[in-house]
Amino acid sequence: MKSHLSKTFKRKNVESPDATFSRATRLKPHVPLALQVLVRQFERRHLERVVEIERASFGNDAWPAESFVEYWRQNPELFLIARVGRRIAGYSITRTNWRGAELESMAVDPLYRGRGVARALLDATLTQLPAGATLRLMVSTANDAALRFYRQYGFVRTRLVKRYYGKGRDAWRMRLTAKTTSR
Ligand SMILES: CC(C)(COP(=O)(O)OP(=O)(O)OC[C@H]1O[C@@H](n2cnc3c(N)ncnc32)[C@H](O)[C@@H]1OP(=O)(O)O)[C@@H](O)C(=O)NCCC(=O)NCCS
Repeated sequence: MKSHLSKTFKRKNVESPDATFSRATRLKPHVPLALQVLVRQFERRHLERVVEIERASFGNDAWPAESFVEYWRQNPELFLIARVGRRIAGYSITRTNWRGAELESMAVDPLYRGRGVARALLDATLTQLPAGATLRLMVSTANDAALRFYRQYGFVRTRLVKRYYGKGRDAWRMRLTAKTTSR
């Protein structure tokens, strides 16, 4: 099942629809500027909403519901959701392995982006990892928003992986050591 999951992950289009958003366009007037974000572990009843966020974020390359259930079974304590009020605004999935931990996926509802939701999810993830642990991820070289977010958070690029997502779709390998976060 592991290999199925990583294959599915590779298929995901991480060229986010908001990749070209500027800082100004990210500020949506109908969303309050200061959000109180609560991060919790994923529960089965959250599945539908998480899949909705996934589809809004990745379109045709979104993971199916079964992939989320499988990740939840494998690492329930590192499958997190972020709530703003009663609404789930985003999720993150991390998996631990012999090398440390891998951030497998993260997405925030487009309506809630640019308000610190992803930052809150990563902060909470890091509190679950031992000090000094390494958190790794793969991100499309075309996903500007995610690249800026990860770099701003403290991740460093370690390797370019050609065709990771298929022909002409390269990825950056990035890494963060838990004690060097931006918090
Ligand atoms: C990448 C993503 C998760 C960021 O979520 P977010 O909740 O908007 O991020 P945050 O508000 O926590 O951003 C924190 C910091 O990251 C940077 N950042 C985030 N999005 C940015 C963007 N679109 N452009 C420039 N900088 C950005 C900023 O420095 C920001 O801090 P600031 O608002 O104080 O300037 C979100 O854009 C998303 O869901 N994208 C689609 C799915 C995806 O690409 N996931 C990652 C690959 S698996």
